[in-house]
Amino acid sequence: MRTQVAIVGAGPAGLLLAHLLALRGIDSVVLERHTRAHIEARIRAGVLEQGTVDLLTKVGLADRLHAERLIHHGLELLFDGVGHRVPLTELAGRELTIYGQHELVKDLVAARLDTGRPLLFEAPAVAVEGVDTDSPVVRYVHNGRTEELRCDVVAGCDGFHGVSRAAASGLTVYEHEYPYAWLGVLAEVAPSSEELIYASHDRGFALHSMRSPAVTRLYLQVRPDEPLSEWPDSRVWTELRTRLDRTAGFELADGPIVDKAITALRSFVVEPMRRGRLFLTGDAAHIVPATGAKGLNLAVVDVAVLASALGRWFADGDPAGLESYSDTCLSRVWRVQHFSWWMTSMLHRAPDADPFTRRLRLAQLRYLTSSTAAATSFAENYVGLPFPEGAS
Ligand code: APR
Ligand code: PHB
Repeated sequence: MRTQVAIVGAGPAGLLLAHLLALRGIDSVVLERHTRAHIEARIRAGVLEQGTVDLLTKVGLADRLHAERLIHHGLELLFDGVGHRVPLTELAGRELTIYGQHELVKDLVAARLDTGRPLLFEAPAVAVEGVDTDSPVVRYVHNGRTEELRCDVVAGCDGFHGVSRAAASGLTVYEHEYPYAWLGVLAEVAPSSEELIYASHDRGFALHSMRSPAVTRLYLQVRPDEPLSEWPDSRVWTELRTRLDRTAGFELADGPIVDKAITALRSFVVEPMRRGRLFLTGDAAHIVPATGAKGLNLAVVDVAVLASALGRWFADGDPAGLESYSDTCLSRVWRVQHFSWWMTSMLHRAPDADPFTRRLRLAQLRYLTSSTAAATSFAENYVGLPFPEGAS
């Protein structure tokens, strides 16, 4: 098989890229290792920046999102038993959208299948070759046979555990492990708060989020090596109530937990995000701790930059966008990496933290919730900085 752009991975990055390329008349083939049911059921984050929603709306992918999303204009930081609302939209002029990533993936898959363009499930890429030539090849397995997909360009959209990054030699890796992880639960119960609550408690971090008026999403800081078996539902609710409590009182409603998983927190970046005709996007190139809700939104910006660059290159041979792709994306990636690391370090209690560090974190929280300048800086990063010039 041959195409212009071979897209490895049908997550948000791969599926959105395929759509943006098709709008520019550029052919692509999307290869996905798992089944459609698997990728549409994968519970991930659920906060979309306004830039992400604006792009999805512009390209016709946001009909259900607009019908079902929740719109938020603020969030709460809870510490020392007191909740402090940060009026995000008032400070930074942008709103937040709550819409499950797996819901977005469903919309992107449906849109791709409606076009009739190739999206192959259970088709894992096993090798990406010839990235330094002008006709790279992706080898993949499908229906028990090893196939070849020849192309002009390979888009590595296969996430942190994909194969495309390994095809790019000479990359520099930057990474940071956090001494804690997140236990995430999805509960079939109405949220107990209108907006998100980020709690920094002496026992550890907790987050109250949601997916809909009937589904609550909650997270607890746990040890990185903690087995899920140590967290029966009763213990999860007890610990959440402790960490989300406040002097004014707070009733956390509970209900059936339908998804429970422990996820490591990690910061990771590869430089550059390109090798020859291979372009890495989203989690294939960078990982941020979920605290800032940035993973999906970063992937969207990478893909918008890449789609614009490929559009110019295929249309009139102008390589400028491709040559600046990595630098353009990395500039935002590092800003978002810093914000996510800073927010994570401020809200989480490291297991070996000394009293001095705890006081520093409290001082940071008190400053952030008492200074308009500090809150505005937080807000503009949290709601998402404007897209790079030309990314669309
Ligand atoms: N061949 C084909 N597909 C693959 C391969 C492979 N060898 N390896 C991985 N994949 C698929 C995965 O099954 C997944 O569907 O690539 C896709 C990668 O999707 P994501 O991991 O969601 O990454 P991305 O599209 O960059 O989106 C980033 O997803 O993981 C979250 O927190 C992350 O919100 C962020 C967003
Ligand atoms: C979520 O709703 O899954 C969520 C919200 C905010 C975060 C991380 C995850 O920072």
